[in-house]
Amino acid sequence: MKKILAAITGIGGYVPDYVLTNKELEKMVDTNDEWIKSRTGISERHILIEPGKATSDLAVAAAERLLDQLQIDPMEIDLIICATVTEDMSFPDTGTLICHKLGAKKAFGFDIHAACSGFLYALTVGAQFIQTGMYKKVMVIGADKMSSIVDYTDRATCILFGDGAGAVMLEPSTDGNGIVDSALYGDGEGKDVLYMKAGGSLNPTTHETVDRKEHFLFQDGRPVFKKAVAGMVSAVQEIMTRNELTKDDIDWVVPHQANMRIITSVAGMLDMPLDKVMINIERYGNTTAATIPLCLWDYKDKLKKGDNLILTAFGGGYTWGATYVKWAF
Ligand code: UT7
Repeated sequence: MKKILAAITGIGGYVPDYVLTNKELEKMVDTNDEWIKSRTGISERHILIEPGKATSDLAVAAAERLLDQLQIDPMEIDLIICATVTEDMSFPDTGTLICHKLGAKKAFGFDIHAACSGFLYALTVGAQFIQTGMYKKVMVIGADKMSSIVDYTDRATCILFGDGAGAVMLEPSTDGNGIVDSALYGDGEGKDVLYMKAGGSLNPTTHETVDRKEHFLFQDGRPVFKKAVAGMVSAVQEIMTRNELTKDDIDWVVPHQANMRIITSVAGMLDMPLDKVMINIERYGNTTAATIPLCLWDYKDKLKKGDNLILTAFGGGYTWGATYVKWAF
C-alpha cells in the first residue's frame, strides 16, 4: 500500500484593512522610515483596529477564504489547529472558538503556542492525524493579533509586528505530494530575550504588572537575530541532507518573516538565490504564526504541483525548525 502523506490542498490568507505605515510610526515613537526599512525591510503592517475583534476573527476570515476556494462545508472538517501567541483568552482555546464561529460542529480544535515557529509545529502535528488515517480534513491556521501585545511606545518592537492569519487544509494523498519531513526544535534558554512576562501562572496579572508594562512583548533583538539565522540554516540543512536534496532540487524556501536581513543571511548561507525565497515582510511586518501561511497565500499562483518547498522558522522560546513540503495542487 502506498504511503499516505498529508497534502496541503488549499490556502487562505487574511490581513485586516487598516495599514500602519512607517510614516505613522514616526509620529508615535522616535524612529524613521529609513531606519525601519534598512534595519528590517518593513514598510507597513496591517492592524486589526475594530473593537471586539480578536485573533479568532482573523483566523476565521482566512479559514472562510480557504473553504470557499475548496468548496468544502465546515461540517466536513475533523480538526482545527490554531498556532498563535495571542489567543483570544487564556481559555477556552482559540481553536475551539474558531470551530464555533466557523460552524465546524463536528470538529474539535486546540492551540499550539510556539511563537513564530507555531505554524510549523501545528502543520507537523496536523499531518500526523492524516498520516495515521484517523482524520480526512485537518485545518491548520497560523493567526496572531500582535497589536494586542505590542507596546506602541517602545520603538524597539512596535515597528516590527503586524496582524494577520493564514489557513491551510490537510487531506490524505498517495501521490508523493504532501508534508514529507520536519525537523523541529525547542530550547527554553531563550526565555529571557523574547517573552511576555506577566499574565501567566508565574506572574499573574496585578495592578503592578500592568503598571510595569509586563503584558507587552519584550525582545532583546540582537541575540535573537544571531540565533535565528543559525537555527533556520541548520534546520534547513538537516532536512536537505536527510531527504537527499541539493539546492537545485528546491523550488522555494519559505522563511519566517521577522527581518529582511535575517532572510537574506539565511538565503546567503544556504547559497539560495533570493528569487527562490518567498518574501512579503515589506507589506505585513512580522505576523508571528501567520508569516509562513501568508507567504504561501501571496505566492500561491506561482506554485506548481510537485514543487519542493522548505518552510523554516525561528521564534520565542526558543523554537525553530524546517518542514519539507511537496506542493500538491
Ligand atoms: O520573530 C521572532 C524572532 N525575532 C527576530 O528574529 C528578530 C531578531 N532581531 C532583529 O530583527 C533586530 O535585532 C531588530 C530589528 C529587532 C533590531 O535591529 P538591530 O540592528 O539589532 O538594532 P539594535 O537593537 O542593535 O539597535 C541599534 C540602534 C540602537 O541605538 P544605539 O544604541 O546604537 O545608539 C537602538 O537604540 O538602533 C536604535 N533603534 C532604533 N532607531 C530608530 C532601535 N530601534 C529603533 C527604531 N528607530 N525603531
